[in-house]
Amino acid sequence: MKTNFPEDFLWGGAIAASQADGAYLQGGKGLDTQDLRFFRPELSQKERTDRKNSRFNKETFNKALNDTNPKLENYPFRHGIDFYNRYLEDIELFAELGIKVFRTSINWARIFPNGDDAMPNEEGIQFYINLFDACQKRGIKVFATILHYNIPLNLLTTYGGWRNRKLVDFYVKYVEVLFDRLGDYVDYWLPFNEINAGKFSPYNGVCVVPDGEPELENTIFQCIHHQFIANAMTVKLAKKMLSGSKVGAMIARFTTYPATSRPEDMMQSILDDQYSNWFYLDVMARGYYPEYMDRYFKQANINIKMEPGDLELLKENTVNFVSFSYYFSLVSTTDQGWERTSGNLIMANKNPHLKSSEWGWQMDPLGLRITLNQVYDRYRLPIIIAENGLGAHDQLENGTVNDDYRIDYLKTHVEAMREAIIDGVDLIGYTMWGFIDIVSCGSMEMSKRYGVIYVDQDDYGNGTLERYKKKSFYWYKKCIETNGEVL
Ligand code: BG6
Repeated sequence: MKTNFPEDFLWGGAIAASQADGAYLQGGKGLDTQDLRFFRPELSQKERTDRKNSRFNKETFNKALNDTNPKLENYPFRHGIDFYNRYLEDIELFAELGIKVFRTSINWARIFPNGDDAMPNEEGIQFYINLFDACQKRGIKVFATILHYNIPLNLLTTYGGWRNRKLVDFYVKYVEVLFDRLGDYVDYWLPFNEINAGKFSPYNGVCVVPDGEPELENTIFQCIHHQFIANAMTVKLAKKMLSGSKVGAMIARFTTYPATSRPEDMMQSILDDQYSNWFYLDVMARGYYPEYMDRYFKQANINIKMEPGDLELLKENTVNFVSFSYYFSLVSTTDQGWERTSGNLIMANKNPHLKSSEWGWQMDPLGLRITLNQVYDRYRLPIIIAENGLGAHDQLENGTVNDDYRIDYLKTHVEAMREAIIDGVDLIGYTMWGFIDIVSCGSMEMSKRYGVIYVDQDDYGNGTLERYKKKSFYWYKKCIETNGEVL
């Protein structure tokens, strides 16, 4: 029986290109879909968190697309935290922190600026060689997300995003270049960040601008099918082109409990779990469309177009590990009047037994142990927690932040991970989300900070971009040094 974290446990940190890199037109990069998302200073924090306001519709999308005089500060993803130009100093800090693995995403528009270019952009490839080489030299493994929401803008405006099967071909060409040129530097590959995002956040997940879409749900499932095919093709290519690196599946995990002991609520929690979580991992880890979705598709009149050979491809190319982001849990109920709260790009049913973060996300460390047990029990594959952390307002004072609230959050979640390991779960890694402060994905704010490293920049892009170590930096460093013994 295991009693603690394994010796080679992958303690790490995670970020994503669009939220960190900036330099949106440097090095030959093309515009990507996330470059268009803009910050709305006229809204209060609460309004910004409201899903209605944070999502694109046709009008807001066109406004950004036709903005002839874009101000950098209005488009936070265009400047990020300037990681593109500062990565070397940042990696020094990561090495001092002691992380064993660094998760970041590759920006497709740096490799193929328009997505359909005949040849890749050498400068873009070189950037990732330099970045990953710097990690390797400091003994930090690389966990690369191939697609974290942003595709080259041209693939949306010319081809319609993931609804077009051609995206699979463009994606495969992109992956071939990555495996060929970066294969020696990457230890773990993730074809898609949160592949269930298409359903709860269509612009991010499948690059569809929702308004005016006649059969939106059908379109979304068609897009997701294309992503499943792209995922299976990635696994297939990895078997052919790589030795050693592993390819995984990832979802945003929405762990849910029945709101009451009414059987109706229990049934609802099973359905919510199937529709929001299991469906995606079942396809990628078990290799088939699960039967419970046949019923759902029939009821909702969803017809997915498949090509000959699709189902065999899915079956023969399942992933090597599973991973998920975990920030909070929610409850399931058939009671339409149940109180609601915010969650990761969704609105969720409130659990009266849990405390919420400043952004309304319900904190539930025990839920992480429950989740790990559920996921491992179902797939019996190694697990990496790809994202977890607390978004909070921080106060920089005398060059540091006394973020005991963050330490509490992380400590209780690491304890839950240890318990799950003792339960027998094959948990191999943990990449804390936004371990260096980055721009929030949901609300585009800089002031929603997750990091153990503070970045001096406000919501309007003002600041020196200097990095500072928070109190949690020293806490995490100790945690890693002692392999989770001292928390
Ligand atoms: C995950 C995304 O859904 O949640 C990240 O993969 C995102 O990109 C993270 O940043 C936290 O969400 P937010 O809205 O607080 O940045």
